[in-house]
Amino acid sequence: MHHFAYRNGSLFAEEVALSRIAAEVGTPVYVYSSATIERHYRLYEAAMKSAAPAGKAHVFYAMKANGNLGVLKTLAALGAGADTVSEGEIRKALAAGFPPEKIVFSGVGKSESELRFAIQAGIYQVNIETERELDLLSRIGAELGKRQEAVFRVNPDIGAGGHAKITTGSSENKFGVSFEEVGRLYARAANMSGVRIMGLALHIGSQIRETASFEAAYTKMVALVGSLRGEGHRVDRLDLGGGLGIPYEMPKDFDHGPELIDAYAAMVGRVTRGLDVELGFEPGRMIVGNAGVLLTRVLHLNPRPTKQFLVVDAAMNDLVRPAMYEAYHEIWPVTEADADAATVAYDVVGPICESGDTFTSGRVLPTLKPDDLIAFMTAGAYGASMSSTYNQRLLVAEVLVKGAEYAVTRPRQSYEELLGTDRAPPWLA
Ligand code: LLP
Repeated sequence: MHHFAYRNGSLFAEEVALSRIAAEVGTPVYVYSSATIERHYRLYEAAMKSAAPAGKAHVFYAMKANGNLGVLKTLAALGAGADTVSEGEIRKALAAGFPPEKIVFSGVGKSESELRFAIQAGIYQVNIETERELDLLSRIGAELGKRQEAVFRVNPDIGAGGHAKITTGSSENKFGVSFEEVGRLYARAANMSGVRIMGLALHIGSQIRETASFEAAYTKMVALVGSLRGEGHRVDRLDLGGGLGIPYEMPKDFDHGPELIDAYAAMVGRVTRGLDVELGFEPGRMIVGNAGVLLTRVLHLNPRPTKQFLVVDAAMNDLVRPAMYEAYHEIWPVTEADADAATVAYDVVGPICESGDTFTSGRVLPTLKPDDLIAFMTAGAYGASMSSTYNQRLLVAEVLVKGAEYAVTRPRQSYEELLGTDRAPPWLA
C-alpha cells in the first residue's frame, strides 16, 4: 500500500501534485511519502511485537535503504532504531535524532576507527562478523574502559533474495561467522574485558517474498541458541535481520495489504515461541521501498526501425537498480492516460554514455512526448542512497511530502559542490 494516486487525472503524492514538485524543484527528483513510511513502520513494528516472545521486539531501520534526513527523522520520531553499516551512517543516525542506545552497527568490514567511534558514541550493539573483529572490538573497548555489547552474526548457509547480488546468507557469501565457530568464539569472548556477547544475528538476503527461507534459517538459529546455552553461554538477543520483499509490480487498482508482513510475523512467532530472548529486526526496503518515486521528464524520442527509445532526464547514476540487478520498476505517467489511449513499446533510457543506462526495454506505455513527466515507482529503497555523480551529473534533489505540504530535504547538488572538492596536483596547478 502507498500514497501515490491519481486525482482528476494527475498523479499525486498524498495531497501534493507531482507536476507541482517538478515545476518548483525541477527533475529528476525523488519524492517520498511520510504517510507511507509511517504506515509501513507501524504495521511492521506492531506485527513483530505481537510475534516476539513476551512482546520484546526492537526494530532497527536499515538506513542504507534510504538515508535521507527527512526520512530518518520521520522514523526516529516513530521510535525506530537504526541499523548502520559505517561511521557515516552512525553519524547521520545520531544527527537525525536516533538515540545511541537504539543504534546497531553491522557490516562485514568495520575499521578500527569506526569501531572506536561506535563504542565512544555508546551504541546499543555491534554485530561482529569475524574473529579478528571480536579481538579488535574488545581491545578498543578495554582501552576506552568500556564493555561494548555485541552479538555474533552467524552465516546460516541459507541464501535467499531477489537477485544473486543481494543474497547474503549462503556460506558462499562473505558475511558472518560459521555455525561451527560460534561456540569457540563465545568461549574466547567470555575472557575478554572490552566486549560482552549478548546473542546472535543473521541476515540472509534482500527482496525475499516468501517465508520458507527465513523459517529454515531461523529454525537453525533457534537450535544454535539451545546448544550455546547448553554450553553455558548467554543468549539474550536474536537479531533476525531484514530482507522482507515488497511488490514492485503495482497495477494501479491493486491494493497490496500487509499479508506478507503478517505471514512473516506468524512464522517468527511460531519459530521463537517459548524462547527467552529479545528479538531484533533490520528492515530497510519494507519500510521505505513503496514510499518513494523517482520523478523524471522526457527529454527526447529516438525512433529506430525496430525500437522506440524514450530518453528521460534521470539516468543509472540516479537509480542504478535496473542496470545493476535487472530490477523492475513500474512507470506511471504523471498525467493519467485515457483507458483507450494509444500505446507504444518504449526502451526507456537515460542520458549516460553507455548502453547499460537502460531502465526498461519494450515497456508498453501510453504515447509520450518530450516534456511529459513520468514516475519510476517503488524507488524509495536503494534509489537515492545508491546514486552517484557518474558522468559529472549532479546528485538529484529529494523531497518529503506530508499531507498537503512538502519540503526539499536534500536540495539538488550544485555545480560548485560537484566540482569544488577536486584538487589539482601541485605540478599541474
Ligand atoms: N541488515 C543487513 C545486515 C543488511 O545487509 C541489509 C541489506 C538489511 C538489513 C536490509 O535489508 P532489506 O530489508 O532492505 O532487504 N541494493 C540492493 C539491496 C541490498 C541489500 C543489502 N543489505 C537492491 O537495490 O535491491
